[in-house]
Amino acid sequence: MRRYLLKKPFSEIEKVYYDTVIIGSGIAGVYTALCLNSEKETVIITKDTIDMSNSVLAQGGIAVSLDKGDSPALHFQDTLTAGAGLCNEESVWVLVNEAADRIERLLEFGVQFDRKSKDELAFGREAAHSKNRIIHAGDTTGKEVCDKLILAAKNRKNITIKEKVFAVDLITEGQEAKGVLAYDEKKKEFVIFVSDAIVCAAGGFGRLYKMTTNPDVATGDGVCMAYRAGAFLADMEFVQFHPTVLYHPENKHFLISEAVRGEGAVLRNQKKERFMHRYHKLEELAPRDVVARAIFTEMQKDQAENVFLDITFKDREYLMNRFPNIFKTCLGYGIDMSKNYIPVAPAEHYCMGGIKTDVWGRTNIKGFYACGEAACTGIHGANRLASNSLLEGLVFGGNIARILNRQGRKKEKITIRDACLPEYALSFEDKDLEIKEHIREIMTSYVGIVRNKEGLETALKMIRGYISLIEKKEPLIPEHFEIYNMLQLAEVITENALFREESRGAHFRSDFTSPDDKQKKSIIREIGKEVRYDTEPHVY
Ligand code: SIN
Repeated sequence: MRRYLLKKPFSEIEKVYYDTVIIGSGIAGVYTALCLNSEKETVIITKDTIDMSNSVLAQGGIAVSLDKGDSPALHFQDTLTAGAGLCNEESVWVLVNEAADRIERLLEFGVQFDRKSKDELAFGREAAHSKNRIIHAGDTTGKEVCDKLILAAKNRKNITIKEKVFAVDLITEGQEAKGVLAYDEKKKEFVIFVSDAIVCAAGGFGRLYKMTTNPDVATGDGVCMAYRAGAFLADMEFVQFHPTVLYHPENKHFLISEAVRGEGAVLRNQKKERFMHRYHKLEELAPRDVVARAIFTEMQKDQAENVFLDITFKDREYLMNRFPNIFKTCLGYGIDMSKNYIPVAPAEHYCMGGIKTDVWGRTNIKGFYACGEAACTGIHGANRLASNSLLEGLVFGGNIARILNRQGRKKEKITIRDACLPEYALSFEDKDLEIKEHIREIMTSYVGIVRNKEGLETALKMIRGYISLIEKKEPLIPEHFEIYNMLQLAEVITENALFREESRGAHFRSDFTSPDDKQKKSIIREIGKEVRYDTEPHVY
């Protein structure tokens, strides 16, 4: 695969200069921008509109140990237990200890969380949490938080927001970041955002799968751009499937929040029988990977495509107030959750892996930082604890801003040399766009909830076949770049999944069903190098 995707020399592309370039407009990107000093000229570039991100869709809430009887130590322990032995403890400590401060900041930005009383936040429960510690805004927490942060960003003079700008490649010289090569869809032109401080908060890669809760934009472009530039990726084989996503002919993406099970909802199979007691002592509130696999097994047994979620024992009024968005959406499909079971199935939800960073968001490339789902700080290990991801964006985005605020400004002094650019023999054809759907089918069939050697090898062969097909073709528009990125990441995920010959957290191998302590290490990927276990120090 090539270092850069575009074949046009950098000297022929317009350049714009900023102190900080942030890629992505979810909670991590926007919060980082808001924490930067007001003299830092900052641009947020986003592939779609500013309000289109995975964060906006987050329903459940944000984990914080503020309730009586709770503590950061308990939150730490729950995170580690869910992470199945692979969490980075230093990062998790930072996460749980900084949580209260970040919630305070959100309240200052005007975020309205649900309350028990005027002075007390309401705390919900989600799977694998030993305490009620999820603060929420109804069942649209992500939207409430993002709306308030985006409003604040729009009011800051030092922050420019550029929508419909697709980040294609990170420009580096040596091991240093110099800028971002991007495609401005409105102007139909390429542009280089020159900066020595580039933050990738571009989210994950859920759209590599057929069924996902992620929006269309989640094709892993930020992670793949970093990989091409030489950034280390970690934990890429760990892909989280949310157990309960609406399964309706017209909608197979809508999340039915874990908070519904937190309020007591139970799972039933096709015979309308409960089954979770056969899989885990915490039943419906077992860790997410356990619940997703249990549902998958029941669906296979019954040769069915879904199971059911039952919260019919709660009254209508209560459900309409606690879950207004879920209630309304289900009703739109003729499902009254106070009377009917909700058909659900697991779907891809979150990528634990990403660009390897330390607790300051630093990567192995100088001047290049990552936070949010695009990053791998090691807090999720092999399986993310529910409602830790919005928090992750706030904590590590805030940390990146702290580091950048200490740096001087030198943006106008940065020069960019032309690099060695690729040659292409062929052009993309319309039928090549179908490759995206094929990738999703391959990943869902062979690199999904249950994996094995034979399936992974089949997937790898098909993915590599597509890679050799498109390698000769010149990518010109975002859809072409996405295909490159999706194939490159699909290959990385599949190779990692083959390499890890054990079952741990979200990575389940039917041919190696137990964890193997000798493999209790992260897998690191570096372009052009063999798959390897992590031996690097966690600080850059
Ligand atoms: C949910 O509401 O179930 C999702 C929460 C999360 O993924 O953290």
